[in-house]
Amino acid sequence: MGTFPAVSEAPPSTDASDFLRATVAVSSNKGGVGKTTVVTNLAIYLRALREDQPVALVGLDDQRILDRMFEIEAPAAARGNLKHGWAERSLDRVLRLGQYGVYYVPSPPDVSLLKARAENPRTLAGILARTDWRGIILIDTKSDLEALTRNAIHAADRVIVPIADWASLEEAAKTFVLLERDRLPIDRARVVFTLVDRRSRVERGTTLLERLEAEVEARGWPRYGTTISRSPRVEALNSGSGCPASILHRARGTAVHAELRSLAHELLWDLAGFERYVGAAAPLATWGRRVAARPADGEYGGPRRR
Ligand SMILES: Nc1ncnc2c1ncn2[C@@H]1O[C@H](COP(=O)(O)OP(=O)(O)O)[C@@H](O)[C@H]1O
Ligand SMILES: [Mg+2]
Repeated sequence: MGTFPAVSEAPPSTDASDFLRATVAVSSNKGGVGKTTVVTNLAIYLRALREDQPVALVGLDDQRILDRMFEIEAPAAARGNLKHGWAERSLDRVLRLGQYGVYYVPSPPDVSLLKARAENPRTLAGILARTDWRGIILIDTKSDLEALTRNAIHAADRVIVPIADWASLEEAAKTFVLLERDRLPIDRARVVFTLVDRRSRVERGTTLLERLEAEVEARGWPRYGTTISRSPRVEALNSGSGCPASILHRARGTAVHAELRSLAHELLWDLAGFERYVGAAAPLATWGRRVAARPADGEYGGPRRR
C-alpha cells in the first residue's frame, strides 16, 4: 500500500476558494500512543497552514482534555455539549469557538450515556451530515473499539492509527479488523508512527522503527511517511499543568514541531491536494494564539453559514 504521498490516482479536486470539508478520526485500542496529542495539535497546525480554514474538534473520550486545552471561558451549561448535539442530531448549537481559533464541542459530563445511544454505528455520520459545518472535523476517540469509536470510524474520511511499539501494532490490527468487518475500505486508515524511540534496537543493525515499518508494509496497511518522535519537551508540555499546551506555540524548536507540520501537509495532500489547499506553498504562521477573551464571532474564520 506504500507510504503517502504515493497516491496513484489524482486527489479529489477542491476549489481553492472553498474550504476543505473532511472528517478525520484517530483510533487505537491502546492508550498512551499519542491519539489526543496528535489530533489536538493537528487541529492547530491545520489552522496555521490556512488561517481561514474552519477546524473543529469532537472528543469521544471522557477525560475532558479538549475542554481544558481549548476552552476560552467556562461554558454556560445552557450552551450545551456533545450530549445535546447527539440528541438534537446536529452539532450546530454546541460547536464553540476555542483557543487557537479551533472550534470544539464541549464534552458531556458522562460519555457512557452517549454510548448507550450509539448502537447504530452510523449515528455520528448522520449527525455530522446534518451539521452545517463547512470545514474539517477531527475526532478524538477513547482507547477502545466500542460503540462511540466505531461511530467515529464510520463517520471519518480518514482514520489515523498511531503505532508506538509492538503492542500498539497488535492493537492497530483490531482497527483494521473492525474496518473489514463493517465493510469499510481499509484505505480509509493511515498508520502514523508515534512516540517511537528511534534509537531503540531490536537486533544488531535493526531499529524498532524499522521493524515496525517492515511489519506494517507486510500487512499492507496504508501509512503516512511522517513519524512523530518522542520528546521530553512535549511530554512536559502535556503533563506540566492541567491544560496541555500547543506544540506550535510552545515547542517550536523541537523535532515534533516539524513533524506535526509535515503530518498536517501529508493529511492535506491526501485529502485535497496540498497546493490546491494552501495556494502557493505558504509559510507556516503562528497565528490564533491563545487569547484571554472570546473573539468576535467569525474571527479566526468561524463556521460559514449557508
Ligand atoms: N511526542 C511525544 N513525546 C513525548 N511524550 C508524548 C508525545 N506525545 C504524547 N506524549 C505523552 O504520552 C502520553 C499519552 O499521550 P496521549 O496523546 O494522551 O495518548 P492517547 O490519547 O493515545 O492515550 C501523554 O502523557 C503525553 O503527554
Ligand atoms: Mg487520549
